[in-house]
Order: sequence, then structure tokens, then C-alpha cells
Amino acid sequence: MWRYHNPVAVTFGVGSLETLAARVAGRSYLLVTYPDTRFAALAEQVSARLGPPVARVSDVAPNPDLADLDRQTARVAQARATAEVVLAVGGGSVIDSAKVLAAAGGGEGAVEALLAGGEPPAGWRPLPLIAVPTTAGTGSEVTSWATVWDRAASTKRSLDHPRLYPEAAVIDPALMCAMPRALTISTGLDALSHALESLWNRHINPISAMHAVAAARTILEVLPALACAPDDLDLRRRMAQAALSAGLAFSGTRTAIAHAISYPVTLHHGVPHGIACSFTLPMILHGLADADGLTGWALREIFGPDLRAGAWRLAAFLEGLDVHLEPADYGIGATEWSEILAAATAGDRGRNFIATAAAVQPLPPRPSDQTPTVPNR
Ligand SMILES: NC(=O)c1ccc[n+]([C@@H]2O[C@H](COP(=O)([O-])OP(=O)(O)OC[C@H]3O[C@@H](n4cnc5c(N)ncnc54)[C@H](O)[C@@H]3O)[C@@H](O)[C@H]2O)c1
Ligand SMILES: [Fe+2]
Repeated sequence: MWRYHNPVAVTFGVGSLETLAARVAGRSYLLVTYPDTRFAALAEQVSARLGPPVARVSDVAPNPDLADLDRQTARVAQARATAEVVLAVGGGSVIDSAKVLAAAGGGEGAVEALLAGGEPPAGWRPLPLIAVPTTAGTGSEVTSWATVWDRAASTKRSLDHPRLYPEAAVIDPALMCAMPRALTISTGLDALSHALESLWNRHINPISAMHAVAAARTILEVLPALACAPDDLDLRRRMAQAALSAGLAFSGTRTAIAHAISYPVTLHHGVPHGIACSFTLPMILHGLADADGLTGWALREIFGPDLRAGAWRLAAFLEGLDVHLEPADYGIGATEWSEILAAATAGDRGRNFIATAAAVQPLPPRPSDQTPTVPNR
């Protein structure tokens, strides 16, 4: 028996930003975005169409920190009381911050309770959220959780509740064209990780698997081309659709061991999220070379019948995007790596993984007959 559910109303396509006013439908809104000039201009463009927001939170930094979120939440407390909807225009950090603000708008103490892994107070009704992603990676526009970084406690937390699914996502690939190469690659690899993590996952189901296969095949084909042609709107469209599919895949399964490993790598070594959760993918795939059932079928749909050879092709694909594959490349020594693996397998995400830490071993020496080319089937 399995179940698949995703309640987000998705509008997708070049020019879909034009439909935002219909989605907001005259409601008063709180606008959340980044401080950069580019986003100030985009916020103006949005305000010109929708009318002015009741307030703006425009100081979202990458990997939003709990202390900053507390300050932002307090700063807009009064205005938030009059907002009928939260509008997020930005990547995962903006959408996740908007989820925190939406949750805070639903009742006192809800954010603290949820971050502690508990239940929100009775009667909690978060503000509805409309997400306009500007990166193609996190899938946060179709998930019901937010990643909150708690640097003071040196840890990563989750705000996770079914009521935190956005009401709607408006995905306009034209908004993604300004992403520089490194951001295009790291966010694209985050999406690839979501797809694969939903496959080597105890919660895999036939619908999540179909989304994941479609996402991974597209990303393996499109991302190297997009890294060389960042203005190609059709490649941007395909990458945005793949990131959405990956989001729909892992919105029900959640992530697994690669993400569990990634959090301390980002926190303690400053590695961008998409790189931190993708450099381990080839070793995990290699460890699952004999996978069967739905996971085995889906991985072979992506990488071909020989998953060991597929792992090497995936390694070559990542190296072609300038991603280093060894923990030592990120300044992680053997002792720290063992500790990271032990903590990762013990946590919630690690427990979603269909195998154990024993499956996460360095790739054996590359067989001489494996030509390091981009993946193909
Ligand atoms: N909630 C979820 O489901 C989920 C899933 C995966 C990751 N995350 C979280 O999302 C965050 C990462 O989000 P992200 O990877 O989208 O990046 P981000 O939101 O952190 O943005 C990174 C940088 O990209 C810039 N940027 C964004 N869009 C741009 C564009 N179109 N053109 C030029 N520059 C642009 C921003 O100004 C920012 O400086 C992390 O905190 C991660 O943990 C959440
Ligand atoms: Fe991720």
C-alpha cells in the first residue's frame, strides 16, 4: 500500500509571472525576498502589478539563520497581523524564510514548537504562502518544510508541517536566467540529489519514482549544457521543470543519507547546499549497485543496467561540473568523516535510507575501461 499527495497549485512556464496577480487575488500580502539590487527591482515590478505589500522582508541571506529569522519575525509582527498571504520571490532561502513567517503568523509559539519537533498550539492556522522560485533546485515551492540553520547551536533544524505546503507556486524559468554558473550548478545538483534521495528511500512509491526518474534524466542531460549556455531559455525551462519534478518526488519521501551527510559539511566547512548533498551521490550509488525492487528499477532507468558503471559515469558528470568527490577535498579528515557518517545514519534523514552507512564507501579505483564521459544510457 502506498499514498501520494501534493496539494500545491502549480503554474509553470516562461511569462507565468504575469499570472501572479490572479493567484494573489487582491489579498493583502507580505513580500519576502533578498536584498540584492536585482531583487529590489523585481519586488518593485511585483508591487506595481499587485499594489504595495503590507510589509517587506528583503534582507534574507543564503541559508537562513534562526537568529535572523527571529529578528525578521519580530520586525514585521504588526504588519503581519494584517497580511492575508505571504509572497516569496527568491530561491530556497527566501521560500523557507517565508514559511517561517507564515507559520509565525498563525499563532504565538508555533515556530518554536515546530522547530523543537513538537505540535503547534491548538487553532494554529499559518498564513497561506505563494512561492515564486528564482532558482531551480530546492523544490521548496512544493514541500511542506523549511530548513532553518541554527549557527549558534551549530546545527540545522526543520520546520515541518503539512499546513506549510505553499498554496501555490508560480514557476517562471525566465526569472532564473540571471543565475551565475556556480549557482546554476549547485542548485541543479541539489535537485538531482532530491531525485536520487527519493529513490534510495524507504518511502519510495510509484508516483515519486516516476517524478524522480524524469527529473534525474533531464538534469544529467541538461545541466552540463546549461552551465555553458546560461542564457538559453529552453535549457532553463527544462532545468526548472526537472527541479519541480524532483520536488514532487521528494515532497512525500523526504531526503535520505546524502542530505543527512550534507548539513555538517555546509555548517562546518561552508560548502554550498547543492554541492554538499551531491558529492557523495556516486559512492552511494556504487554501494547500491545490487539494488532491486522499485529502487533498482528506477536507478537503472536513469543509469543503465550496470549501476557500478553508472556510479562512475555520475562521478565523471560531477567532475565535469567542477565538483570534487572526496571528503578530504572539503577539508574533512578521516575521523570527522566517520563521525559525520555515524550521525547521519542515526538521524531521521539517515533512517529514510534503504541501506546502512556501510553502503557509503569511497569509490574503488576507476576501472581502466570506464571512459569518463557524461552519463548516457
Ligand atoms: N525546504 C526545502 O524543501 C528545501 C530543500 C532543499 C534546500 N533547502 C534550503 O534552501 C536553501 C538554499 O536555497 P537555494 O539553493 O535556492 O539558494 P539561496 O536561496 O540560498 O540563494 C543563494 C544566492 O542566490 C542568489 N540568487 C537567487 N536567485 C537568483 C537569480 N535568479 N539570479 C541571480 N542570483 C540569484 C541569491 O541572491 C543568493 O545570494 C538552503 O538553506 C537549503 O537548506 C530547502
Ligand atoms: Fe536539498
